[in-house]
Amino acid sequence: MAEASARAHPNIALVKYWGKRDADLVLPVAGSLSLTLDEFPTTTTVRLDPAAVADSFTLGGVAQQGTQLSRVTEFLDVVRELADSDVRAAVTSISEIPTDAGLASSAAGFAALAAAAAAAYGLDLDQRALSRLARRGSGSATRSVIPGLAVWHAGDDEGSFAEAVDGPELRMVTVTLSRTPKAVSSREAMVRTARTSPFFPAWVTSTEETLQEALEACAQGDVERLGHLTELHAHRMHAVIESCDPPIRYLSPTSLEVFDEVARMREAGRRCYATADAGANVVVLTTPEDAEHVAAELSVHGETRVVRPGPGVELISRT
Ligand code: DP6
Repeated sequence: MAEASARAHPNIALVKYWGKRDADLVLPVAGSLSLTLDEFPTTTTVRLDPAAVADSFTLGGVAQQGTQLSRVTEFLDVVRELADSDVRAAVTSISEIPTDAGLASSAAGFAALAAAAAAAYGLDLDQRALSRLARRGSGSATRSVIPGLAVWHAGDDEGSFAEAVDGPELRMVTVTLSRTPKAVSSREAMVRTARTSPFFPAWVTSTEETLQEALEACAQGDVERLGHLTELHAHRMHAVIESCDPPIRYLSPTSLEVFDEVARMREAGRRCYATADAGANVVVLTTPEDAEHVAAELSVHGETRVVRPGPGVELISRT
């Protein structure tokens, strides 16, 4: 029976993805830029089971039902269509992402699932095709296929993939503040933002502009410029999310305190720039020289960890 295992890591967006122009194909309204991390891996095994009548999905030893299972099944349907197969699969996944770390687990999860499922179903995909496939599971997974800095092109189905970008040597400091699950999923919040925020069209056009500037900053190895754009874009994403009806607010008063503290350290000469995804936890983009200092200073607010850029998705075994 065909079986394959793959490992992938989460990524943190510097220029954020927020909004889809095609929900089925998971085509974003604008491109984005991220850094894949070298910690918190997810390892996933896909075993084909010709006798099974349905897919199964076990996460951390617990059999999943409902939305978790249906997202996996829908993703496997995409793989089965490409492989011209109707065989069901048993998916087993172990995630080292602490559930409260504020790192999108779907990015590492669907990147690992894409690589393992493609191998188990006998598809021979290059990195670009794998990135396009991972996208169908979760938008941010498109970028976790790629090591280090990755740009995800908005594009159409063919052209919407991520690829590596050269840039300065970076570190991330994760600051864990919140232990409560987010009230509204990013998937649902994106739809609400696009439907109800009067600022959404400006968000789309300004994101493409910010992406071009951020790519230039990467090419020039300009950490200050890249960091400035990262923090600016995080504020803009949270502003557009807060402007939808009914409003959604992910940042907590403590998140804002961390943003202020990061600004103070910057005034004192440190190179550090705050960002936050769809949750209260903050991640700080910084340099190898400043990372330990930044992590120590912010540890009064929550648990901190210095994280390096990490590898793209890796196929571990195939039988
Ligand atoms: C705030 O990739 O989780 O982290 O495509 O609906 O699965 P779906 O959304 P998801 O959204 C991530 C949003 C974000 C920003 C980003 O990673 O760019």
